[in-house]
Amino acid sequence: MTYRPIRILCLAGSLRRDSWNRRLLHAAATLAPSGIMVEIFDALAALPLFDEDLEQAEPAGPAGVNALRTAIAAADGLLIATPEYNHAMPGVLKNALDWLSRESPQGEVLDGRPAAVFGASAGPWGTRLAQASLRQVLHTCGALVMPSPTLFVAHAGQRFDAQGRLADPHLEASLSRFMAGFVAWIERVAVAA
Ligand code: FNR
Repeated sequence: MTYRPIRILCLAGSLRRDSWNRRLLHAAATLAPSGIMVEIFDALAALPLFDEDLEQAEPAGPAGVNALRTAIAAADGLLIATPEYNHAMPGVLKNALDWLSRESPQGEVLDGRPAAVFGASAGPWGTRLAQASLRQVLHTCGALVMPSPTLFVAHAGQRFDAQGRLADPHLEASLSRFMAGFVAWIERVAVAA
């Protein structure tokens, strides 16, 4: 039997250049258990707004959607870092999930896929409501969302240095536990599937 390392694909729900959530994902990638492959898919801006007419015109999906579906289908787990906009996930993320929820040449890529969510916000609540809305949609799409550990990063502006690197040892420890927990979750639900 050939051994294939566990692969985690990451999405940030923000298009902002200096996004705290993208920075969090970069930190998570460096803190993942050794031997785990972590890739950040940073092209959500290439996805058009979901439209059933577009879907019918191009059964394989627009190029950006097709690339995202292919990347997720090749991954053992999907990790999403969500900002909070008006007490919910941002539209850019919901739009991506609407595309991903549909039948495609790669299948329904969220169905049965292990997933984990976390998020960072500038305010004091650390994306609690955004994560709740994101979990609800992922469940609806059949993703197997890790129940715990959870990670809500509040006051994100105080957690990184001027270069955008994580500069909070407590958060670093929490992030390490989160990544180890996600790998354990992937192994657990993959065995159960
Ligand atoms: C926000 N922000 C915000 N923060 C929060 O804690 N709860 C909220 O409901 C909202 N709502 C909200 C709406 C809109 C339209 C914007 C632009 C922002 C602030 C948000 O947490 C902050 O902009 C983060 O920095 C966004 O994440 P990124 O882009 O840094 O990853």
